[in-house]
Amino acid sequence: MKILITAGPTREKIDPVRYISNNSSGKMGYAIAQAACESGHEVTLISGPVSITPPPGVKVIKVVSAADMANAVHSNTFDADVIIMAAAVADYRPARPLDSKMKKLPGNLFLELERTEDILGTVGNNKKSGQLLVGFAAETDDLEKNALGKLERKNLDWIAANLVADGFGTDTNRITLYNRNGEKISLPVGSKLAVAHDMLKVILRNE
Ligand code: PMT
Repeated sequence: MKILITAGPTREKIDPVRYISNNSSGKMGYAIAQAACESGHEVTLISGPVSITPPPGVKVIKVVSAADMANAVHSNTFDADVIIMAAAVADYRPARPLDSKMKKLPGNLFLELERTEDILGTVGNNKKSGQLLVGFAAETDDLEKNALGKLERKNLDWIAANLVADGFGTDTNRITLYNRNGEKISLPVGSKLAVAHDMLKVILRNE
């Protein structure tokens, strides 16, 4: 099968030397790409800025911002059988990024932010029949409630829920999978590669 995966953070430019980003290392998305490749699938990985060597055999498309990631995802969804979005995409970006370095001035600075595209939401709204769409939810509170809300709102087939403390920037993860039929499957805690293999076994069992 053709599997499209997103990984890592995005960077949203403030000026030529500053940006807004987050602590995603990309390890979870890269582990899913490696596991999918090891299982014989054709894998495209769309990656934000991370310092991981891509797994051999995986086609990697490097992006920086949420807008770049949106373009790359939309250009690659048409023939994907499975889409798994593990990236930590910025929800906001500076409304007016500067071309010159911002000068320090007296007083506080107020930065106006505007919404980025909800890439997974757009993919969910345009999902083709037979396509399997899997999102992630990274939460500090109310993990199950928030994950189930995203499963529904973004028209997903599965959502992989993880606590920020368990998965964000770490080498291991603890994931619970939820699907639209009300199934809840807690995967054993383990290395991100082991979790990725377990996750693929569950979501691809009927494919
Ligand atoms: O990269 P690691 O250090 O290994 O950490 C892994 C991880 C914790 C980042 C990963 O397991 C994870 O949970 N990824 C999703 C993080 C996140 O931003 O979740 P969210 O709840 O904000 O977003 C929900 C879903 O919508 C995600 O699938 C996300 O990719 C997607 N999204 C979010 C915002 C946006 N503008 N567009 C999106 O497509």
